[in-house]
Amino acid sequence: MTTASDTQTTLGAQFQRNPVVRNAISAIVEELRAAQAPITDVRPARSPELAQAYAQMLENAGDIRGRALLYPYLGSGMGNGALVELADGSVKFDMISGIGVQFFGHSDPLLMQAALEGAAGGDTIMQGHLQGNNDAYEFARVLLDQAMKGSALAHVFLCNSGAMANENALKICYQKHAPASRVIAFAGCFMGRSVTMAQIGDSAAGRDGVPLSTLVDYMPFYDHAAAKRMSAGDVSGSTRYIDMCVWHLRQYIERYPKQHACFIFELVQGEGGFNTAPPEFFRALMEVCKDAKIAVWDDEVQTFGRTTEMYCYDALGLGDMVDVVCVGKMSQVCAVLYTSEYNPRAGLLSATFLGSTDAVRAGRSILERLRDNGHYGPDGKHAKHFKMFEQRARALAQRHPDWFPANRDVHDIVSGLGGMMRMTPFGGKKDAITKLCRTLFDEGVITFYCGHDPYHLRMLPPLGVFQESQWDRVFELVESGMAKVAAQHKN
Ligand SMILES: Cc1ncc(COP(=O)(O)O)c(C=O)c1O
Repeated sequence: MTTASDTQTTLGAQFQRNPVVRNAISAIVEELRAAQAPITDVRPARSPELAQAYAQMLENAGDIRGRALLYPYLGSGMGNGALVELADGSVKFDMISGIGVQFFGHSDPLLMQAALEGAAGGDTIMQGHLQGNNDAYEFARVLLDQAMKGSALAHVFLCNSGAMANENALKICYQKHAPASRVIAFAGCFMGRSVTMAQIGDSAAGRDGVPLSTLVDYMPFYDHAAAKRMSAGDVSGSTRYIDMCVWHLRQYIERYPKQHACFIFELVQGEGGFNTAPPEFFRALMEVCKDAKIAVWDDEVQTFGRTTEMYCYDALGLGDMVDVVCVGKMSQVCAVLYTSEYNPRAGLLSATFLGSTDAVRAGRSILERLRDNGHYGPDGKHAKHFKMFEQRARALAQRHPDWFPANRDVHDIVSGLGGMMRMTPFGGKKDAITKLCRTLFDEGVITFYCGHDPYHLRMLPPLGVFQESQWDRVFELVESGMAKVAAQHKN
């Protein structure tokens, strides 16, 4: 029989609150905590048998893809914070976190709980734009509330990948400024791997064989080393460099009047090399865009969540300038955010999927933890971790100056912002840096490279769970790996 109180709530809500379901979720999470507890440091494969089975799995994976995996990495499905167990039972520090996706590391109990609640509270695995549940909009609400604090962004459209967020952003800019068909982008930018994003992204290999149909004008990114060289008299090199770039931008606008729909800004270049720039560089260019009615589009797929504010435009005080912003990676569900002025007409944006039910639940949990737990600001966790990284990297360079030869294009052997960290040993030479990544993987630290020439050793550590006390152990392993690569390069 249906009672009065039953009619005040749905069967779905009742199931999610059902004590049997809740206790079962708690029991799984407790089991997880017990299972992950023994993972406390790096270790080799658990047995020769597992090592052999692992080699076979890697070979199969390579056969299936038609190309060997870049890293011999297949997870076992278990980890503990920044430490991850691979399918041979070995354990490594994950200092690249799936290129920034696993900001709360591996087997995080709260994310496991959110995912289980998603499984119990979701009638579908995937949610879409035609049929979704309210939890997708609860996730989007948190994203938007944080965005609205420092900008005029007013709406969010959710999607499945950073490239797709960028595709949607580009359509929004094109529609708003039709028939303008050109885009402006920075040299060295990366935007994803769809046909259009591969054309805009500044990598010849990334568009190898792709017909070019998108009209892109490239601007130089800020170059600290060049700006330093340009210093003369009373005028700082930075001012001269910025003036030169503003002149360069105006040239494009004069050459193609009213033909640019947008300028894509990556406020800290990710794949391009963790390149930073002073806020006044971006502001000067953005002001030219505003005058010329060119959309300011900020691609935060890699920077989102990990610099010293949730949105990097806030970290650089540029919230008043952005029209369209894309986020992804650590948010689990990707999104394009836009101001009311850029809200597109019906029919432009849609998709079968917006994300899985557990991803929207976990994504919301991530945003709330980032918002509420002292991650941001000049004294926040991200700024503090960056300092700890920087101190150890500089100490390493002091102990081994021969590992850090000068290169006129490397303004500093350490750079980045918040949870985007890079250092540049071996003069930034590609061969040595890629060798170093492989050697560190074998030592038990997963890193990656970034940049073009020079190349850098890149870390996107899972700062949501990384312990300050773990930096020393990570650098001990890094030093041991670097010693091996340095020895090889001597011979
Ligand atoms: C700045 C930037 N934009 C877009 C993308 C593409 O994101 P996805 O790989 O999720 O398509 C990336 C991925 O690395 C990125 O760094």
